[in-house]
Amino acid sequence: MGSPQNRDLGSGRGFGTLIGIFSKGRDMKKTLAIMVVLAGTGAALAHTGVKNKTVLERMDGMKALAEQVKVLGDMAKGKTAYDADRAAAARTALIEEAAKVTAEFEAPETDPKSEALPVIWSDWDGFVSDARALENAVAALDTGSLDGVRAGLGAVGQSCSGCHEDYRLDK
Ligand code: HEC
Repeated sequence: MGSPQNRDLGSGRGFGTLIGIFSKGRDMKKTLAIMVVLAGTGAALAHTGVKNKTVLERMDGMKALAEQVKVLGDMAKGKTAYDADRAAAARTALIEEAAKVTAEFEAPETDPKSEALPVIWSDWDGFVSDARALENAVAALDTGSLDGVRAGLGAVGQSCSGCHEDYRLDK
């Protein structure tokens, strides 16, 4: 009761579709991590009206991550057919985007629409370490089979929500 993940569960919308795949024989934490990520995808529209260019760029980077996770998530749940080339391309894009995260956030820029918490810059090492966790999770993704995608996506989702829990405004 009252954990950050439960709150996200209550406030998100339109992200319940992956639950079937991930709750069957998998630990609930992974299921929640994926749902938290997809809840974040919905928030991508929060973009409108952002004036600060640096903030806009880092939001675009996050949005790109979410789009690639969605490509793999759709395959994982059977919404789109598994396609090894598409899956590999999504992984490559995730690796490229993940590598940009620390540079995108390094300058302590803000905007009334930003969801970035000031603790990013007072605990920069912790933020960098969460960005590295994402880099490791996407590098470890095995896109050579549908099972590989399904097995690796939970860890990716956990790395997204791990950072969001500490460094992004919890709405
Ligand atoms: C190292 C920390 C970190 C990691 C890892 C991370 N994020 Fe984020 N994310 C943030 C922060 C901080 C914000 C808020 C940025 C802002 O509003 O200025 C954010 C915002 C977002 C947004 C909203 C963007 C917008 O347009 O407002 C989405 C979507 C998102 N993240 C998806 C993801 C996904 C998907 C992953 C994993 C594949 C991920 N994030 C991994 C820190 C992280």
